[in-house]
Amino acid sequence: MYTASVITVSDKCFEGTRDDTSGPAVQEMLEAAGYNVEHMAIVPDEQGLIENIMIMCADEFDIALIVTTGGTGFSSRDVTPEATVAVCKKLAPGIPEAMRIASLKITDRAILSRQQAGIRGESLIINLPGSAKAAKENLAAVLPALTHGLEVLRGSPQDCSC
Ligand code: MTE
Repeated sequence: MYTASVITVSDKCFEGTRDDTSGPAVQEMLEAAGYNVEHMAIVPDEQGLIENIMIMCADEFDIALIVTTGGTGFSSRDVTPEATVAVCKKLAPGIPEAMRIASLKITDRAILSRQQAGIRGESLIINLPGSAKAAKENLAAVLPALTHGLEVLRGSPQDCSC
């Protein structure tokens, strides 16, 4: 069982003027897939704060899978992808590619998410869009393959033998 963190990135949720439905929806999906969601947080759309919480989850808490929801669009406040790229040593472009391919079958607006995924230390960071519907649809597209990626990333039980 791998540990996970769910970080909701939203000015409105942080201020309490909007309920966070995406974070709990992502938590539920991860737990149903066997993850131990050890950490949840809501942060505003501030790149420095997003970077800080990702770094804390990876470096201090050693969380295997860090999932963000929100802040991936075209608004001037949307900076989650920039924060993700800034803290990751390697990007994992296949993950957002797969999410957008799957999402395009649902909505042509899938192209408007600038979501990224990457690796910091032994943690995998994945961005999801902000609505609960979009977050669930995107996560569903990649969730089955993540366990194998984490096994290889964290060196257990064995390296990739595909
Ligand atoms: N992907 C899926 N699967 N379903 C959706 O409804 N919404 C899109 C896109 N990706 C959507 C989706 C829309 S409308 C936007 S603006 C972008 O995600 C960015 O969302 P965000 O700004 O909430 O991160």
